[in-house]
Amino acid sequence: MNILLLGGGGREHALAWKLAQSPRLDTLYAAPGNPGIAQHATLVDLAATDHRAVLDFCTRHSIGLVVIGPEAPLVDGLADNLRTMGVPVFGPNKKAAQLEGSKGFTKDLCKRANIPTAAYVRVTSKDGAIAALDDFALPVVIKADGLAAGKGVIIAETRAEALDALDTMFSGAFGAAGEEVVLEEFMTGEEASFFALTDGTAILPFGSAQDHKRVGDGDTGPNTGGMGAYSPARVLTPDLEAQAIETIIKPTVATMAAEGMPYSGVLYAGLMLTDQGPKLIEYNARFGDPECQVLMMRFDGDLVDLLLSVAQGTLAGQGPVELASRTALTIVMAANGYPGTPDKGGAIQGIDAAQAGGALVFHAGTADQDGALVANGGRVLNVTATGDTVGAAQAAAYAAVDAINFPSGFCRRDIGWREVAREQA
Ligand code: AMP
Ligand code: GLY
Repeated sequence: MNILLLGGGGREHALAWKLAQSPRLDTLYAAPGNPGIAQHATLVDLAATDHRAVLDFCTRHSIGLVVIGPEAPLVDGLADNLRTMGVPVFGPNKKAAQLEGSKGFTKDLCKRANIPTAAYVRVTSKDGAIAALDDFALPVVIKADGLAAGKGVIIAETRAEALDALDTMFSGAFGAAGEEVVLEEFMTGEEASFFALTDGTAILPFGSAQDHKRVGDGDTGPNTGGMGAYSPARVLTPDLEAQAIETIIKPTVATMAAEGMPYSGVLYAGLMLTDQGPKLIEYNARFGDPECQVLMMRFDGDLVDLLLSVAQGTLAGQGPVELASRTALTIVMAANGYPGTPDKGGAIQGIDAAQAGGALVFHAGTADQDGALVANGGRVLNVTATGDTVGAAQAAAYAAVDAINFPSGFCRRDIGWREVAREQA
């Protein structure tokens, strides 16, 4: 079977690497891809925003499955158009992708389905927001409703900070994404991400991970798309995972189906493990980046088979997803300046040396410049290794990082710290 993979980051490199291992694959095409993805796929010049061009490509190349990596094409309805044309697609339709595309939509769904989450109110004007602020204790969480690349969430410690945040949102800093705002109760606990595949009815757990969103060691500095992750997140115990499936994932899938917008793809639940049990922070309609990289390192099955059964609505026939019990850990090497404006064009060397000991280096934001590998984005490389413990995986991943020569880049030195501390206790 021929497969088209859309996206060009570290998540898509990990997906390409796994898809390429399937005996069911004939040709893997990727757009736009990157130099890492090019090791496993034929790169094609195709914009995911041009739905007609994607459909034409699928017809001309007998594409049997389209795998959509990032959220924007999902929220934009690309999956709807592919399904209409009879092309199997991994990723939800536009209405279902609202679970990521509109925070207010998800909060309302939680209310209707009695799913545990933070108390909230949706507001569409600054005055309305200021009036509603009185109903929340401090700190209060203020979120742009729409897609804001992980930057639309502000945790305000004081009323002045809250007013400032509302000012920013309603003055158009997030464009249309900030025309509506959600105010939320601040929840306390440790965060974990949980992944589940669903075809709209059947649900198959796909493991857990813990991301590191702040740019600096010790979780300091501004938020990023994620500076590193490990899987499994043992803080999400089997008990808590079962609870999250029962109280969050199942009612979400059932309610979406009952309301005529069945969700097909991977549900990525950001969970807060509170004193009262797991509560939903947010949903994403795709695999996490860099969480996908560590999940793929642990996944031992046939990814083509699995994603196709999601796309075709036959997930109920699949056995449980087999994830190795070993820990996988990935470290994001970013370009100086990230999460602000990253330095582009910095030279990268030493990837082969980094991989010599069994680590894998996924490309996130790289480019090939006259045969030399250079940085071409904020998050540049995802250096990924496995081990029997988080500590062992961490040591192996940092050994690989230290073999890479990327003078205009940086990384956190403490990925996995919470779990490493628990392992040492
Ligand atoms: P989100 O983009 O919704 O995942 O939010 C980004 C980050 O903000 C989350 O990973 C949490 O660390 C934090 N956050 C979001 N909502 C809340 C909340 N209601 N209580 C506490 N922290 C939150
Ligand atoms: N790593 C966070 C995300 O993919 O949204």
